[in-house]
Amino acid sequence: MGKINARTQVCGLIGNPVGHSISPLIHNTLSEKLNQNLAYVTFKVESQDVVAAVKGAYALGIKGMNVTVPHKQAVMEALVDVDPLAKSIGAVNTLVRVDGGYKGYNTDYFGIRRQLVEDGIDIKGREVIVLGAGGASRAVTFMCAVEGAGRVYLLNRSVDKAVELARDVNTYIGEDKVCPMRLNDYNKLAGKKYIVIQTTSRGLYPEVDAAPIEDEDFYDIIEAAVDIIFNPSETKFMRLAGEHGARVYNGIEMLLYQGVAAYELWNDVKVPDELCRELHRLMEQEMNK
Ligand code: ATR
Repeated sequence: MGKINARTQVCGLIGNPVGHSISPLIHNTLSEKLNQNLAYVTFKVESQDVVAAVKGAYALGIKGMNVTVPHKQAVMEALVDVDPLAKSIGAVNTLVRVDGGYKGYNTDYFGIRRQLVEDGIDIKGREVIVLGAGGASRAVTFMCAVEGAGRVYLLNRSVDKAVELARDVNTYIGEDKVCPMRLNDYNKLAGKKYIVIQTTSRGLYPEVDAAPIEDEDFYDIIEAAVDIIFNPSETKFMRLAGEHGARVYNGIEMLLYQGVAAYELWNDVKVPDELCRELHRLMEQEMNK
């Protein structure tokens, strides 16, 4: 970021809470390393103030914003344009300044896509299991279906949410690729190996001794496991998958790469791979503090 002066541009995060966000580390490190005079700050915004906050940000000349829980849906009404994929996902996490307001994107989609590439997990033509059908699952499930998975089994505790998300994705791609299932029906998938992406909140700190599926037999069908949780850095889901022979990853890279994608949209730059790796190390250090 360097020294803040009269020419410093501002980007920021709106959400509630935002106090523990790691996004300032991502963006301020990128600005510093890329010699850009840009500061990234967090704004705690109450739900009733989201539209006013976005309008105010535009009036103040704020270059770009990230949006986090619980505003990723509500913020859409404050935008002058929404990327079609983000619109279908139904959530926006990045606002890019355009004429007259902000355009919304969903860089969580790019984040999980790039994480899989970096981890050497190729979903093309593969059968993928997504656990969870909440807000976080939407970007993940869209990504898997759009980017060429052969089939996506979408497992959720409340099956109605899985049915709804599967319908949204299948409509978007014009194909019946996503199969909604009850979480407890995982044994119907036995006998093959899958890439599994865990998107439920089960296992999130402080609930570190819980996994969305506790039955160890389930873990035999996993070849590669990604938990989009990054705190704790190893969830019970990851531990069980690893004990049953899977390659396992947490969600820190998704977080990193959604940030990198946002930074690239705001600043029209390409962040070098080496800098991404350096940032990855810094984020891990920060998480382990
Ligand atoms: P997020 O934005 O983190 O996705 P969310 O939209 O509230 O949060 O979704 C939480 C997800 O975790 C849902 O898929 C939820 O399942 P339900 O739709 O059945 O509620 C899942 N989840 C939360 N607690 C769970 C638990 N104890 N067991 C299994 N799934 C759970």
